[in-house]
Amino acid sequence: MAQQTMNRTATSRHDYQPPAFLITQVALTFELDPKATRVTSVMQVQRQSEATCLKLDGQQLRLISVAVNEQQLSAEAYQLDEHSLTLTDLPLCFELRIVTEISPQTNTALEGLYLADDTYCTQCEAQGFRRISYFLDRPDVLAEYQVTIKADARRYPYLLSNGNKVSEHLDQQGRRVVQWHDPFPKPCYLFALVAGDFDVLMGNFITRSGRDVSLQLFVEKGQGHKGQFALDALKRAMAWDEQRFNLEYDLDIYMVVAVDFFNMGAMENKGLNVFNSKYVLADPATATDRDYFNIESIIGHEYFHNWTGNRVTCRDWFQLSLKEGLTVFRDQEFSADMSSATLCRIDAVKLIRTAQFAEDASPMSHPIRPEQVLEMNNFYTVTVYDKGAEVIRMLQTLLGRERFADGLALYLNRHDGQAVTCDDFVRAMQDASGVDLSQFSLWYSQSGSPELTVRQHYDSAAARLTLTVKQHTPPTADQTDKQALLMPIRIEFLLPDATKQQHVLQLTQASQQFVFDNISAEPVVVWLEHFSAPVKLHANSSDDSLLQIAAMASDGVARWDAMQQFWSGKVAQVIAGHSAETVLPTQLFDMMKQWLHQPGADLALTAELLMLPDFDSLAEQYQQIPVDGIWQALQQFEHLLATTLQTALRHCYDQLAGQAYQYSEYAVASRRLRALCLRYLARVDSDAGLTVRSHYQQADNMTDTIAALSAAQQTDAVLFSELISDFTARWQQDVLATDKAFALVASNPSEQVFSGIDAMLQHPQFSWKNPNRIRALFSAFSLRNPKQFHRVDGKGYQLLQQTVARVDVINPQVAARLVTPLLSWRRYDSTRQQLMQQALRQLAGSATLSNDLYEKVSRSLD
Ligand code: TRP
Ligand code: ZN
Repeated sequence: MAQQTMNRTATSRHDYQPPAFLITQVALTFELDPKATRVTSVMQVQRQSEATCLKLDGQQLRLISVAVNEQQLSAEAYQLDEHSLTLTDLPLCFELRIVTEISPQTNTALEGLYLADDTYCTQCEAQGFRRISYFLDRPDVLAEYQVTIKADARRYPYLLSNGNKVSEHLDQQGRRVVQWHDPFPKPCYLFALVAGDFDVLMGNFITRSGRDVSLQLFVEKGQGHKGQFALDALKRAMAWDEQRFNLEYDLDIYMVVAVDFFNMGAMENKGLNVFNSKYVLADPATATDRDYFNIESIIGHEYFHNWTGNRVTCRDWFQLSLKEGLTVFRDQEFSADMSSATLCRIDAVKLIRTAQFAEDASPMSHPIRPEQVLEMNNFYTVTVYDKGAEVIRMLQTLLGRERFADGLALYLNRHDGQAVTCDDFVRAMQDASGVDLSQFSLWYSQSGSPELTVRQHYDSAAARLTLTVKQHTPPTADQTDKQALLMPIRIEFLLPDATKQQHVLQLTQASQQFVFDNISAEPVVVWLEHFSAPVKLHANSSDDSLLQIAAMASDGVARWDAMQQFWSGKVAQVIAGHSAETVLPTQLFDMMKQWLHQPGADLALTAELLMLPDFDSLAEQYQQIPVDGIWQALQQFEHLLATTLQTALRHCYDQLAGQAYQYSEYAVASRRLRALCLRYLARVDSDAGLTVRSHYQQADNMTDTIAALSAAQQTDAVLFSELISDFTARWQQDVLATDKAFALVASNPSEQVFSGIDAMLQHPQFSWKNPNRIRALFSAFSLRNPKQFHRVDGKGYQLLQQTVARVDVINPQVAARLVTPLLSWRRYDSTRQQLMQQALRQLAGSATLSNDLYEKVSRSLD
């Protein structure tokens, strides 16, 4: 198992060559067996060029036979190595028949075909199909698939694959035989097969042209009642894409399968999405409001891929953002329409400011269209996905919604059934809108987080306001020279007479002035409204201006952002040696009191306005991260706010006292604000313990339960250990709820975290083979527990290093994601730098280091 197949040569974007052969049709037959599944692949192949040599990708396959036009080949007629099967002297057009054997049961990497929890399941993106059969495993080879699955009929009642079911029968050996046909040519990364026994939820959707689509959701036996929300979300997504982008579903059946063993969130296989069960299963007792939100958004994401990804796909993997950036943008727009648009945007902005800025500043920095890739799995990143979505959003801002929609329609029409590039996408946008996008294209090739410095000058005699904007992108690990980008900067003027004006600036130069005449008095300028470009802003605003923006701006995101800027200034002051008490203006407390007394129509926004920035957002403002300084400043401010605002907090908390659980925008917002009050109250109230305990006891839903547990976790170690034991015992049988217990134990800022994690490793639900369990415990520790992870005795780094090493032999893709926090060692003080480097060197020294981990660790230690 430790024997990973290694092939350590990076490929470059510019090396693309069109395929020398095409595979136009494939008939696959699977005879399912845990250790010896037989795969027969019959391909119709066409030669495209002079080349006579066909090199097929394959990994961890046992080759049984090869035949060309029904002529068996002898072993001398082909070449076989660890990664490929090469055939020579081939005709122009032929049938290629290859039989291989694979072992799903021992496949712990969860790529290709694997067997877990007695369910057979495939994951082929990006390069998993080569672990199923020899093939041209690249996204620009599109074939029509016919799939036959044979398996024990009683054990595996459901045998699923892409497209439409053609036939089903039992054979003489008691095996079920099911045949599928997908009429849409597709790349092999969209192939899927699932075999198992499930609870099934059925629904249907009538498309706008009147086709009746059967919707089927498959979940673990006994979990059926937790599937309804996902099924309803799917219907909302289908209706939304028709309304917003005029896009209709194209097959008669749409299936979604939920599995507990899965490397990522979900996968958009044509007609047969496979989901991580945590993004499908929900009921109020076990799922939080955030879980509900994520389910709707990911169901939408995978559904939207049917057009942006499947009907029009990527020419090569460097173009990944073509489908992912665009589809994330689409799912964000969908979520904004289904729930609080402001909150959705705030969440997206937080992600860019934490994980994405951190990635840009790390050794793994890359443009949204990477230039160099060793292991493709390593490039499913926040940069490709979320910065990619920001780039699409900027296009929509620059072109306007209508012209953007025209551009998307032209792109899909022009390229339906093709595998294309990011340049093709930009060209369609340009052709449809008539706007020159040549400078804009730089966003695809330039990495790094641009920094904007903005200044305002008001000339009262001339009633003229002059704004100066400078842009600068610092060098990144992958690229030193940076150019000026084209970006939209949305601004608002708040004038002393309480009037407002909104504008969109188009920044194109390194330094540029924008002049506004007839401005009657000097306004407060709201910069980068709605985070109109993914940049770091230096505005040098006064406390007064920021608080005024927080109170008055039209855009909720801008109001929240002003508070974030305010607090990061204050944190910096405390780190510089000022005391927390002296840096806060009384005006701040007055505003916060008022928000608590009159939380207004948007309770969710109010909660965001009252919240301190999180550790990671603050960290990204520093070259060298002052771990202890940020931590202490946050503790002091939280304590200070809690004591000063105690009465108002208590009032607000009591006012919002719970109603029966409902997942609605208002109820979600109300729980969020109430949880925030609880978190502050837990710090001071003389009977804080009582409040937290009763919140826990009275909770009729997971959101409130977790709110109580996190409040205790931050403030009262004894209470936390009492409540978490109760929680863990209560949910022992439920894996997804147990994951929440793992995450809470691992993000405990007290020293108990180490014994807590040790105890959880003994939990009956824990398994080193299950990525959800690993992430719940160790990502929570490394990403949400800065205090213990960054201990100066190195204990946190050692724990992560040992975990990564252990997971790498089981599942390299998961190990490589887990290692991320260690890569940025250059961002810390010299003590921590040494400890982190040491941990990385220990990993680098492993004889069995996977390509996934090698690529990251070596880039970091370079
Ligand atoms: N394409 C998937 C998405 O919707 C991402 C994905 C799912 C994936 N599973 C994967 C990528 C495994 C790589 C490997 O975003
Ligand atoms: Zn996707």
